[in-house]
Amino acid sequence: MTFARVAGVGSYLPSNRVLNNDLVARGVDTNDEWIVARTGIRARHLAEAGQTSSDLALIASQRAMEMAGIDAADIDLIIVATSTPDFVFPSTACLLQNKLGNKGATAFDVQAVCSGFLYALTIAEKFIRSGSHRKALVVGAEVFSRILDWNDRATCVLFGDGAGAVVLEAADSPGILATALHADGSHHGILSVPGNVCGGKVVGDPFLRMDGQAVFKFAVRVLADVAKECCDVAGLAPESIDWLIPHQANIRIIEATAKKMGLPMDRVIVTVDQHGNTSAASVPLALDAAVRDGRIKRGQKVMLEGVGGGFTWGAALLEF
Ligand code: UT7
Repeated sequence: MTFARVAGVGSYLPSNRVLNNDLVARGVDTNDEWIVARTGIRARHLAEAGQTSSDLALIASQRAMEMAGIDAADIDLIIVATSTPDFVFPSTACLLQNKLGNKGATAFDVQAVCSGFLYALTIAEKFIRSGSHRKALVVGAEVFSRILDWNDRATCVLFGDGAGAVVLEAADSPGILATALHADGSHHGILSVPGNVCGGKVVGDPFLRMDGQAVFKFAVRVLADVAKECCDVAGLAPESIDWLIPHQANIRIIEATAKKMGLPMDRVIVTVDQHGNTSAASVPLALDAAVRDGRIKRGQKVMLEGVGGGFTWGAALLEF
């Protein structure tokens, strides 16, 4: 039987680190105390003008491939999760493939907003388990700064740019122990960029709009449930997870989820304070940070989970 295991992780943050007070200096009607108290966010990284999701994805991918000890030519599947693609088409995955110098791999994007990495990882796992592919590059890459309304203080302080990547490869033992993905499109209106390109113009609103309190309540409810669902599939008690890596949107959502799961905060990876919400990049960015600083070790059980626009949500339980 073939399983899928993580062979390498990598990430990249743009060099422009922006503190809460830098936003105040830019004219945003906010303050550091409010942002820290309500969200836990202290800093985020913002891409330079012209720096695209595929640019960020390239460096994250190279770092993951280096850890996995593989070359671009070894990869036969590339999936990029992004809601801020370089173009309407071709896919960011194809642009990344070209930048990597890979030819012939299956390559496509996944659009599930902040759950996108969980969707992409789960799809890659199923390709590998089917036997059709052996080495997948799974990336979450975003430049949310491009879709923020800097006059909307309720949203613009929350998000950042970045990319995280994982090399997933075929193995004789797991690997990924369980996954669960869900969506409920009836909630599409509480978090969206309700615009489109039509006839050479933007039609509708090209900025991110959010009902923050509705999103907050939804996220807390589904994140604990989907983690439990994954544990049930794997036959594990939630308390036996070594590390929880929830979507990094708000420290209060993260703390509420950990509490519901019965996990102390010292087993939860938190990067929202330094990265803000990087949407599909948030989970692989946090995974990479914790692997590289030595907290997450081989053989440990790691629960990844995401929630975002759609609404979508999902989780993956790994034996790292
Ligand atoms: O990936 C998923 C995406 N998003 C999320 O997970 C976000 C989920 N939601 C949240 O994290 C929270 O709802 C927010 C952080 C967005 C907002 O926190 P809140 O505690 O729900 O605040 P609120 O929206 O109820 O606003 C409270 C007050 C309001 O003022 P008044 O009406 O009480 O006078 C806002 O105008 O805070 C004000 N406010 C701000 N003040 C300073 C809103 N944004 C800001 C700001 N700085 N940036």
